[in-house]
Amino acid sequence: MRLAILTSRVRVEEKLLVEALRQRAIDFDIIDDGELLFDLAQPQQRWQAYDAVLCRSVSQSRGLAVQQVLEHWGIPVFNHAAVTALCNDKLLTTLALLQAGVPVPRTLLAFDAERAVEGIETLGYPAVLKPVTGSWGRLLARVNDRDAAEAVLEHQETLGSYQHHIHYIQEHIEKPNRDIRAFVIGERTICAIYRSSAHWVTNTARGATTENCPVTPELNRLCQLAARAVGGGILAVDLFEDPERGLLVNEINATMEFRNSIAPTGVDIPQEMLEYVISNVRERAGV
Ligand SMILES: Nc1ncnc2c1ncn2[C@@H]1O[C@H](COP(=O)(O)OP(=O)(O)O)[C@@H](O)[C@H]1O
Ligand SMILES: [Mg+2]
Repeated sequence: MRLAILTSRVRVEEKLLVEALRQRAIDFDIIDDGELLFDLAQPQQRWQAYDAVLCRSVSQSRGLAVQQVLEHWGIPVFNHAAVTALCNDKLLTTLALLQAGVPVPRTLLAFDAERAVEGIETLGYPAVLKPVTGSWGRLLARVNDRDAAEAVLEHQETLGSYQHHIHYIQEHIEKPNRDIRAFVIGERTICAIYRSSAHWVTNTARGATTENCPVTPELNRLCQLAARAVGGGILAVDLFEDPERGLLVNEINATMEFRNSIAPTGVDIPQEMLEYVISNVRERAGV
């Protein structure tokens, strides 16, 4: 067995994956996506050397593009390009979750600042504005009144790129200073953490602290449903605890970071990831 780890930067996560590969004595190469040049109609021989490619690009758009090309050439990639495409896009994710009957925060979409203000006022203040693509809590805005809403929308329309002209507007969930991140690999919710912060944005990339969150049957069922809704694989499902409605699924990440989740949960996430990849490779080979 030989695997490739595709990445733009070897972060803590990739080092942990390398360590896990060494523990299992599996051959691997690390491939920098910046070095790639694809001639689309000419499948490159070098990829045939790999039983699977684990895509860990820091850039969501790069990672997805590589997955699309390799999959087109018949190389097994994790996650599937279609799953990553869904998860990279908050609009597509929300639609897939709604389709599967997964509870989500109420979300509106508008294409014009005036309609967006109307939407925000339909939800009531505070409301949350997010770019449909993005991560690490970047460019999120919680708006508390009409002045703030108008200012953010004007900035988006004037300074933003075309993606920021799609206004993804969400009700603000009065979550208890934390959200939940659950790791779903295949059909299993292997562990979950609470991400707590005094700030309303609770990404660990923004300084939230982590502690173990027990995987209750309810959390497991919802995470399985959510993971299935986007096509499954190696995923991190983010959830909010709504005081009235209980658990709501916020988003799903297809290239998750996990460095802060191993110690509190006691689960060896990189080994679980490899286990999944290896069993898929074996299944494919019929062994
Ligand atoms: N509707 C919301 N209500 C309350 N908090 C929110 C809401 N949307 C996002 N947040 C907070 O902001 C964080 C980042 O939002 P998220 O939608 O996950 O974007 P990103 O892809 O940047 O992580 C969430 O983990 C949560 O703490
Ligand atoms: Mg998130």
